[in-house]
Amino acid sequence: MPAVSPDAFKDAMRRFPTGVTVVTSVKNGEPRGVTVSAFASVSLEPPTILICVNREARSYLFISTSKIFCVNILSADQQQLAERFAARIRERQFEGVAYSIDRTGAAVLDGTLAHLDCEVDQEHHAGSHSVFIGRVVSLGLRDGAPLGYFNGHYDDFSLRNL
Ligand SMILES: Cc1cc2nc3c(=O)[nH]c(=O)nc-3n(C[C@H](O)[C@H](O)[C@H](O)COP(=O)(O)O)c2cc1C
Repeated sequence: MPAVSPDAFKDAMRRFPTGVTVVTSVKNGEPRGVTVSAFASVSLEPPTILICVNREARSYLFISTSKIFCVNILSADQQQLAERFAARIRERQFEGVAYSIDRTGAAVLDGTLAHLDCEVDQEHHAGSHSVFIGRVVSLGLRDGAPLGYFNGHYDDFSLRNL
């Protein structure tokens, strides 16, 4: 059997529609965020989620060291935030970005559909990425429509508002 090429793998994965999140963390008082679609629910009791983060991303060390992160589920009108936190900005990543904090100290972005504030329970290395299993210690909700991503493009999927 021939090995699966990275291009074929990407072609398969881009056929799977997802929502879009910005995962934030903080280290020595400095906030950091990264756009992440690899987010899933893991367990109800206790409330547990997972995210997958490239270990070459700047955010990786923030999450791995501080052992906290917050998943911000973007709403349909927040494509600019998704682009900003996917852009490998070195400094002042949060300039002009409105946010508050909840339990862990990671940024809770204004205007998202939901945020899940987490403490890292486990980290598993898997190839280029790490799977972070996070215990949800607080959350917040807001009504609206979600931002989606499919075939390399942002999309509102014409979904109804909550
Ligand atoms: C829609 C979308 C989804 C993404 N999902 C992930 C993801 O799940 N995990 C990840 O590590 N990177 C993901 N990325 C890529 C990171 O956002 C990107 O590599 C970012 O530049 C890393 O920034 P940093 O090195 O400044 O931390 C995604 C990018 C986009 C546009």
